[in-house]
Amino acid sequence: MSKPTQSVIITGTGSYTPANVVTNDDMAKIVDTSDEWIRTRSGIHERCFAAQDETTSDMAIAAAEKAITAAGIDRRDIDLIIVATMTPDMPFPSTACILQSKLGLGNITAFDIQAACSGFIYALNTGCNMLRSGAYKKALIIGAEKMSSILDFEDRATCVLFGDAASAIILEASDSVEVGVLGSITGSDGSDPSLLYQPAGGSTIPSSHESIDARQHFIKMNGKEIFKQAVRVMGQVSNDILDQYSFKPEQVDLVIPHQANMRIIDSLAKRMRLPMEKFHNNLDRFGNTSAASVGLALDEAYRKDRIQSGDLILIVAFGAGLTWGASLIKWQ
Ligand SMILES: CC(C)(COP(=O)(O)OP(=O)(O)OC[C@H]1O[C@@H](n2cnc3c(N)ncnc32)[C@H](O)[C@@H]1OP(=O)(O)O)[C@@H](O)C(=O)NCCC(=O)NCCS
Repeated sequence: MSKPTQSVIITGTGSYTPANVVTNDDMAKIVDTSDEWIRTRSGIHERCFAAQDETTSDMAIAAAEKAITAAGIDRRDIDLIIVATMTPDMPFPSTACILQSKLGLGNITAFDIQAACSGFIYALNTGCNMLRSGAYKKALIIGAEKMSSILDFEDRATCVLFGDAASAIILEASDSVEVGVLGSITGSDGSDPSLLYQPAGGSTIPSSHESIDARQHFIKMNGKEIFKQAVRVMGQVSNDILDQYSFKPEQVDLVIPHQANMRIIDSLAKRMRLPMEKFHNNLDRFGNTSAASVGLALDEAYRKDRIQSGDLILIVAFGAGLTWGASLIKWQ
């Protein structure tokens, strides 16, 4: 029988963004918008869109390879893959299974999680708990999205906000008690799916000529309501997890928030009474990459030396569902 483990540490991070950089001026050639509107309302300057033949799993592999190299592990020791995505390669099989094969791994446990923009934290939390049980030793956690595949390029209120990317971490079971992923909180409120959703393609509205003509396979969003909820919920879950582990906001060295909108992040900083210098942001260059977002920012922060051994890191996200989550990490 395998023993429950003391803690779980992140031993490697990686990310990938497609080569095709699309500026706000480029978007203004597609829909009636402007660089000025997008920058001031969202903070986004540009985003990356995958090539037509580039899939979510292709991006995920590129991110995974970097995380595996950074962790310095033999990939054959990975015994668990969890992919967070709402834009899988196909409805089934899971993108995690496609990844298992493309990475040349053994017949390990592999599955997808769908929690929209909170997906990375849901996957991180699930992976940590599976490792803590003692049944698994090394997990590959991925957030990957080809958002451009579900964007309506006739809807200026949504298509300017999102981008494509993948991010990955390697989680390893460890006997250390001082460092690692201290814990996570996740939550949901499914009372009004229409706040942010893709109406067709599931069992409610199966794909048909009519559903395609009605543009129901694209993202629909109530931007104002989502904005309000995001500010409220991200502030609440951040304070809740800090309370749970008896930390004060000022003890956090770096906050990695979901990269949806700079005004949402500004409001979060105010609610937490923390200066903006304590936040790592990159949405100006990548937009909202949904499940990839916090992993993409985490990888960048680590590679830019913004994370040091012993730092207390707070990751917080919010998304469709509604879903939300936060994780506290004491960096090893
Ligand atoms: C989408 C969002 C940027 C819109 O900002 P806003 O200040 O609420 O703007 P409004 O929705 O009030 O729209 C204001 C006007 O700008 C227009 N507009 C919308 N998108 C536009 C665009 N890309 N370019 C120019 N004008 C645009 C609207 O049509 C509206 O015009 P009207 O007043 O003539 O009707 C903002 O609501 C937001 O960020 N919401 C959260 C979205 C999000 O983060 N989603 C993902 C969560 S995980």
